[in-house]
Amino acid sequence: MPDLTLEQKAALVVGANFWSTLGIDSAGIPPVVVTDGPHGVRLQRGSGDALGIGDSVPATCFPPAAGLASSWNPALVERIGVALGDESRAEGVGVLLGPGVNIKRSPLCGRNFEYFSEDPLLSGELGAAWVRGIQSRGVGASLKHFAVNNQETNRMTVSAEVDERTLREIYLPAFERVVTGEQPWTVMCSYNRINGVAASENHWLLTEVLRDEWGFRGLVVSDWGAVEHRVPALAAGLDLEMPGPQGESAAAVVAAVRGGTLAPDVLDAAVARVRALADRAAHVGSQSQASSAHHALAREAAAESMVLLRNEGGLLPLDTAQAVGVIGEFARSPRIQGAGSSQVNPTRLDTALEAIGSIAPVEFAPGYSFDKRVDPAPLIAEAVAVARRSEVVLLFVGLPAGDESEGYDRTHLELPAAQGRLIREVVAANARTVVVLTNGGVVSLEPWHDSVPAIVEAWLLGQAGGSAVADVLFGRVGPSGRLAESIPLRLQDNPSYLNFPGEGDTVRYGEGIFVGYRYYETVDVPVRYPFGHGLTYTTFSYDSLDVSRDGRTASVTVTNTGPRAGREVVQLYVSAPTGGISVPRRELRGFEKVSLEPGEAIRVHFELESRAYSHWDVVTKGWVVAGGQYLVEIGRSAHDIAVSAPVSLSAPRSPRLTLDSRVSEFLDHPVTGPILARAAGGVEGGDSANLLEMVASMPMRRLMRFPGVGDSFKRVGVLIALANNPVVRGLASLLRRR
Ligand code: BGC
Repeated sequence: MPDLTLEQKAALVVGANFWSTLGIDSAGIPPVVVTDGPHGVRLQRGSGDALGIGDSVPATCFPPAAGLASSWNPALVERIGVALGDESRAEGVGVLLGPGVNIKRSPLCGRNFEYFSEDPLLSGELGAAWVRGIQSRGVGASLKHFAVNNQETNRMTVSAEVDERTLREIYLPAFERVVTGEQPWTVMCSYNRINGVAASENHWLLTEVLRDEWGFRGLVVSDWGAVEHRVPALAAGLDLEMPGPQGESAAAVVAAVRGGTLAPDVLDAAVARVRALADRAAHVGSQSQASSAHHALAREAAAESMVLLRNEGGLLPLDTAQAVGVIGEFARSPRIQGAGSSQVNPTRLDTALEAIGSIAPVEFAPGYSFDKRVDPAPLIAEAVAVARRSEVVLLFVGLPAGDESEGYDRTHLELPAAQGRLIREVVAANARTVVVLTNGGVVSLEPWHDSVPAIVEAWLLGQAGGSAVADVLFGRVGPSGRLAESIPLRLQDNPSYLNFPGEGDTVRYGEGIFVGYRYYETVDVPVRYPFGHGLTYTTFSYDSLDVSRDGRTASVTVTNTGPRAGREVVQLYVSAPTGGISVPRRELRGFEKVSLEPGEAIRVHFELESRAYSHWDVVTKGWVVAGGQYLVEIGRSAHDIAVSAPVSLSAPRSPRLTLDSRVSEFLDHPVTGPILARAAGGVEGGDSANLLEMVASMPMRRLMRFPGVGDSFKRVGVLIALANNPVVRGLASLLRRR
């Protein structure tokens, strides 16, 4: 790059200010404006902050990820991506900082409202749709926070101690899906360390996995303030440090290149990526946004984001002629998003109170105050009086803004105590009560759950949430959301409970791959509502599940058997055989949202990759299909399986044998297995099966050191040669199959 001096190059790989990369006019490099993200454009004109403190220009506030994920609808998420792309362009924003695809390991993570799911497939598919949408408008995404950023406590220093298989199966696949499928313009590294190494300085993560394995071609940017040592970060693959300017970082880079401790081509590669980003973003700032259309889209998305958890006696949908008691401050003062860097300044704000009031006769009582100093008793008494006078009560409760935020985690799942009291007293006064929940992270529904006939989990719904709630409660739109995370009965039931948020600067991911429903289902721990659960105003049946012999395609017929049109999320799970490795009872491997009129049936097709049947093998460092009988299951949730079909898959080619292979590997091998079994049968005194079991875990070399054994296996070298001969192995496998 002869047009740039070393100093210019070093300055280019650090931001110019809070929200912009450096531009160098003389070299034809324009600055790129980046901004949060993800559920709206948070463009700050004056001085910036990453904490949601300062003001930003008005922008459509779509439902944050916790809500949006419950739609299980990638097509909808993609449309939101397109809208975000248009709004970004209109404001001259080149990269919007999102989506966040970190796994919801614990319901306590303060930032769960910004993440999609406890499941990597759902997170990955929705994240990919978001990126596809925004990038189709010529605006870049920043896939974050790479990686294993699953808590806010000590987020800048904590080391997530995670075993390799868990990384590959749970914490990396959503990133992998988005990178390999959509090539986001940028990936944002996380604050935390992973097994001791800071994400920003993690060569394995940022270069070996991200670039070499997954083929990432974009730019790696730091989370704001994630860089501690600029030179090792650059060497690890971190192209751009944000925010800037960091004079000492640029100086350190210059010194390292001059001193020979940093190869000039490492810096050149990062500079080339900053330039490429600037070229791609050069044309933003040219299109106008359609704000009323975006508000309508935000309303549609909010309606799809709600999950109808319970509807005893068909209390919902409501009839417009009834006198409705609307109780709860949230109905009047909605909480539409979480706190922190993602906080958008909405263009409009719909309240449920107004929206419901435009449909039915309403009497309102706030029921509680967000001001903790206010005595709850008179507010509850007033609410109870309204409940008594009403034919049906819509009771809005949830987490006040301060209860969950970027920067800190929650310590419990409870609603404020005064709201718990309010629920009990209102339900006692009027049994026809619908609870509508406002919360970014999961809240406990105990102990009032059983006394409330209808419960709507409305998450945080963005600026049009108020109207959307009315749409769903009155049946103008059927509820179609499904839980993207389990709702436990008790916090203690969550598998991360004993290891969250860790001790000091270490958090051990002791539950391994058994995150969320993978744990609850495997260990049979009851939950209040399982992953994937959500009711509609109609019913669906499933039949005729066909799965191809190789398991790669599956089809099932879904029929709307109820009285109303509705949308079903058809969920495909795979249950793997348990031989040798520890596996969850089932894992989500596909999903499809379908819309059906009453009586209508549809055939839903799934295509599955071999990954759907694989686990990460730490020995070969790759994906492996364990041979055996799998089940393909179609469920209404991770707990409620409607139909299933078996698939028999054979193990991949037997491994190469060496003297260090275990006896069990010799026994499993198609060539040596039968020979050894016969030889063991000839050993005098004792049951041959028992004998083999006793020595199965021993490496062959060690077994041969036992007196007498070496003699019986004199020809083991010949056996190994035979076993590793492809022709002999092929013949033996054929014989075995017959
Ligand atoms: C957050 C990122 C955000 C960045 C810029 C950080 O504190 O973790 O998600 O994009 O600030 O605001």
